[in-house]
Amino acid sequence: MGVLDGKGAVVTGGSRGIGRAIVQRLAADGAAVVFNFARSADQAAEVEQVVRDAGGHARAAQIDLADSGAVDELMACADRHLDGFDILVNNAVLDFAHTAIADTSEELYDAVMTVNAKSAFLTMRHAARSMRDNGRIINISTLMTTRPGPNSAPYVASKGVVEQLTKVAAIELGGRGITVNVVCPGATDTELLRHYNPEATLERIARLTPLGRLGQPDDIADVVALLAGHDGRWLTGQIIYATGGLT
Ligand SMILES: NC(=O)c1ccc[n+]([C@@H]2O[C@H](COP(=O)([O-])OP(=O)(O)OC[C@H]3O[C@@H](n4cnc5c(N)ncnc54)[C@H](OP(=O)(O)O)[C@@H]3O)[C@@H](O)[C@H]2O)c1
Repeated sequence: MGVLDGKGAVVTGGSRGIGRAIVQRLAADGAAVVFNFARSADQAAEVEQVVRDAGGHARAAQIDLADSGAVDELMACADRHLDGFDILVNNAVLDFAHTAIADTSEELYDAVMTVNAKSAFLTMRHAARSMRDNGRIINISTLMTTRPGPNSAPYVASKGVVEQLTKVAAIELGGRGITVNVVCPGATDTELLRHYNPEATLERIARLTPLGRLGQPDDIADVVALLAGHDGRWLTGQIIYATGGLT
């Protein structure tokens, strides 16, 4: 018996990194999961296979959140493959060239906001309309909203939007027992992190982290699982820093 038996979950960006760990953990806890990805079809198929081999259910859909109508398509896919919608995890993130504000085009700003923030609004709107009572919405943000660095304006802005949406949704949906929270990872060992940080930087971050290492995707997935299950029922409107103490 898993704590999420009978639950249906939608996870954005489940092919790699933190999203993959979340899909696998929610499925291991008994949820049937639908997740999307943009490009990594082989890795998405591998996630489906890993879950299947463990006796769980995960269905991947290649739906690019940059495209108009993508969220409707993802939710239609969830309708087809899930027997009810109980858990939403907004995790997908656009990987983009980090530049100073002076060098950031309007097109880049719009692209980041569309994938990271607007898609979260639209999935939450679906959840507000069709999620079952006592559901869970978990939005993945970043430690950078409280500790921003240079060359990250669209990214940090998009995550700020997600955090504010979370607080409003927690108030609006609380009457139905639906909780809405943010999990902010610190430096977590994924392709995204390694793409932007040389090894020496990662070693320095690990030294500065009270728990003495980089986060792993499973560290974040376990916090998401806590919020997704019955034990998370009294937490809502919260921003939870899953950073090994690096705050
Ligand atoms: N890693 C860190 O240190 C760190 C720190 C703080 C916060 N976070 C947050 O944690 C979350 C996951 O980050 P990560 O490090 O796991 O990222 P990642 O390794 O780059 O994985 C990103 C995921 O999002 C999907 N994705 C990207 N663009 C998409 C699009 N347009 N449409 C649909 N899916 C798309 C990717 O699919 P494809 O495989 O098809 O590209 C992939 O599954 C993000 O919200 C990020 O902001 C991460």
